[in-house]
Order: sequence, then C-alpha cells, then structure tokens
Amino acid sequence: MEKIYNEILSQVYGARFKEYGATAKGSFWLNRQRQEARFRIIAQELSRLANGTAVNIADIGCGYGAFANYLLETRDLEVFEYTGYDICPQLIEKCRHHSPSKAFNFEVASAPLLPTMFTVMSGTYNLSVTLDIKNWEDYVLTCLETCWKQTTFAMIFNLQVEERSMITKNNIYYANKVATLEACNTRFGPTKVITNNEIPKDATFVALRAG
Ligand SMILES: C[S@@+](CC[C@H](N)C(=O)[O-])C[C@H]1O[C@@H](n2cnc3c(N)ncnc32)[C@H](O)[C@@H]1O
Repeated sequence: MEKIYNEILSQVYGARFKEYGATAKGSFWLNRQRQEARFRIIAQELSRLANGTAVNIADIGCGYGAFANYLLETRDLEVFEYTGYDICPQLIEKCRHHSPSKAFNFEVASAPLLPTMFTVMSGTYNLSVTLDIKNWEDYVLTCLETCWKQTTFAMIFNLQVEERSMITKNNIYYANKVATLEACNTRFGPTKVITNNEIPKDATFVALRAG
C-alpha cells in the first residue's frame, strides 16, 4: 500500500504545485500565517532541545522548501546540515534549483537516507489519498516508523486533530491526539504533545530517543 499511496501523493502534490507554484496554497495550506505558525512551533522545540549545539535536520515532506527558508531567515538555530526530503520529484527539483546554502540538500525519498539528529514533518500526512481511516493510519505509522529508525535525537511532527480520528470528504486527515500519543510512546520514545491557540486543530508531537 505504501508504494501506491506514495505514487498517488506525488501526482496530487505535483499537480497542485504546477497550478499554484511555490506558495502556501501550492502545498494545500490555507495561508502562510498558519504554515509559519507550525514552523515556529517546530523551530522553538528544535532550539530548546539543541540547547546551543549545531544540529542536522531531515525535513520529511519539505514541499517547495519553505521550512528551509524559514530556518535561514530566522537563524534561531545553528544548522550544520539540512536535508529536505519529498516524494514529489518536481518539488525536489525546484528546491535544488533554489537551494539557499551548500549545507542545504534535497532528495526524493519518504525517510532520511542517513541517520539524522532531528527528523521533522510539517503537514506531511494531512492529505489522505484514501477515505479508509485504518489504511491511512497504518500508512502514516509505517512512514513514521521508517523515519524514526534514522532519528538519533528526536522526531517532531504535526497532525490535525479531532475528538476521534477521521478523514473528511475533502480527504483531510484528523488524528485522535490521545491515541497518537499512546502509539508514539509505545513505538518510539517518550513523547509529548504541544498545542497552540493560533492553530487550535493542530498538535505537534515530540518523540525523544531515550538513553
Ligand atoms: C502539506 S505539504 C507541506 C509541505 C511543507 N512541509 C510545508 O509546510 O510547506 C506536504 C508535503 O509532503 C509531501 N509528502 C506527502 N507524503 C509524504 C511522505 N510519505 N514522505 C515524504 N513526503 C511526503 C508532499 O509531496 C508535500 O510536498
């Protein structure tokens, strides 16, 4: 199922990029403010955990490179290596053409190719390509597990959340926050969840590699 979903996702995001270009809308975000609110939460958590140490980051589902630009613009964090990964080759091609720095690289893949301190995902699993909630949640967990294997320090990802998990008729996935937290604590390391009033239907999960 994973291969088929990745192929469909690549086509859907490629078509959206062709229509709207390198914009928040081109990545299925409602607007840039909400896209950046998510980046801010992830970057704050990265800074807190890095505690002044230079870091390497894998950004899974990097899209057109908006988080890479955000990191370079804000400079809150010392990044010695950043790799943006995406399943959509058109997006990776765009990122490579506009790579903001030699330390910033881009690859077509759904998980880090090398062990990396921090793995992050923003909005990566929000758009489902099935209305079957079980199949989609299995897919998301499989993707997260593959990423977790290459994560040496922490995995930070956001999902949209609701009282119970569901997929809307527009294919937007909402996770159950408590169930996701339990799954992360069981399969990954000790996990906490961050919520923010600016984006009330979002939750950011931070799973730590213990020991
Ligand atoms: C909603 S967009 C978010 C893009 C970017 N993170 C941002 O916030 O601007 C989701 C991106 O994740 C990519 N994607 C979806 N599923 C993926 C997966 N399993 N592995 C890697 N990339 C994926 C899509 O191609 C798309 O570019």
